[in-house]
Amino acid sequence: MESFMSTSLASEACASHPPHVEAGDVLSAIAAKRDGASLSAQSIECVVRGYTEGRIPDYQMAAWLMAVACRGMNDAETTALTKAYIDSGVRLEFADHRRPLIDKHSTGGVGDKTTLFVAPVVAACGVSVMKISGRGLDFAGGTVDKLESIPGLRIDLDHEQILEVLDRTRMVVVGQNTRLVPADGATYALRDVTGSVESLPLIAASVMSKKIAAGTDGAVIDVKYGSGALVGDIARAEELGRLMIRIGSAFGLPCRVVLSDMGQPLGRAVGNALEVKEALSALRGDQVPGFTELGHVLAVEMLCLAEPGLMRQAAEARVRDAVSSGRALAVFRAWVAGQGGDARVVGNPDLLPTATRVDVVPASWSGWISDVDARAVGKLALRLGAGRLRQEDRVDHAVGVVLRRRVGDEVRQGEPLAEVHWRGDADPEAVSAEATAAFTIDSRPVEPRSGVHSVL
Ligand code: URA
Repeated sequence: MESFMSTSLASEACASHPPHVEAGDVLSAIAAKRDGASLSAQSIECVVRGYTEGRIPDYQMAAWLMAVACRGMNDAETTALTKAYIDSGVRLEFADHRRPLIDKHSTGGVGDKTTLFVAPVVAACGVSVMKISGRGLDFAGGTVDKLESIPGLRIDLDHEQILEVLDRTRMVVVGQNTRLVPADGATYALRDVTGSVESLPLIAASVMSKKIAAGTDGAVIDVKYGSGALVGDIARAEELGRLMIRIGSAFGLPCRVVLSDMGQPLGRAVGNALEVKEALSALRGDQVPGFTELGHVLAVEMLCLAEPGLMRQAAEARVRDAVSSGRALAVFRAWVAGQGGDARVVGNPDLLPTATRVDVVPASWSGWISDVDARAVGKLALRLGAGRLRQEDRVDHAVGVVLRRRVGDEVRQGEPLAEVHWRGDADPEAVSAEATAAFTIDSRPVEPRSGVHSVL
């Protein structure tokens, strides 16, 4: 039996419980959390439902989220929040013949185009991939915006279309919508503009609700740390990763967590069409620094989740073969066509949106690159139009930044640090200064940084 699961049971539960001092009163829930109390599952569910159904206004929900961000949540509360998010929408179910079905998610970063590489590679290895992706937020790009740079590609598929694409290509990527975890969609947008994005329980519930609602058999989560990530240091990233594994296991979803460095942008390209081009080049077998390594690690973990007992070495051999044989690229082409996109971009990436102006940013002195501030590069790309400064802004898919140097590279004065792809509609000196400031050049040699720290 394959269906969207209904959420009516959860709705009845909230309505039929006897009035509870926390449950009926969002103000007491805000105050209780502000004062460090833990909230009941019923209270959390009623706040989330009240907000999703429009009975709790933005200002109260923002206060509640901020209280959670400041005071934290224990595991029981985070699990209840995850459940409340899931119950706000439908939960996908898939028939046995489509299993195992594996998902992946990243906590967000700059130049993070891993889904575009990992999903076709894993699908080409015979494991189906189902992914719900989001749009860019602040300086961090989103997969949906990247995908929309492919002319015609649709991410708003209904259940029948999801199954059709999955059966044809073994991979499907859809955007979050009003039926898939809508409470998370609404809450995330509010968190984004009220300063409560960087809260571990809020991130964990947001990510895990989407993974659980997607109805897959396992999920690999790429938890990023560093200047371009939501979480600055590795200890907090590990805490977040372990929390997500516990939430997954509370819902019966096996998860693996990869901790990866977002101190510098991933790969070289930052900006929607530029990142699609870079993902295509990695699928053709080019070694994109930082990106190819992380893509392989994530793909290996996804295969090992799908096939318990599979050794990492054997999985790595499959991943390499999927790329070198051209099968992964063929899956990508079929998938683009399956979701209505112009598959000619695979053979001819120049069909993707292209900026009208490309400026090269030169190094002011010679040395070795010791830092490329991912957040600064992401903010520059955002201001060029690669993301949204306000929710209603239109994304310019062509613009962005391409790094010509990464951490550990040597550079001589006057040689390129980066290319800025833009429309020439801002002060060129300010743009160049902003790009230059993202790079730190040291007088002594610096070791290149590996992007992958560990797997939990
Ligand atoms: N990604 C999500 O989906 N949610 C968060 O809260 C952070 C990153």
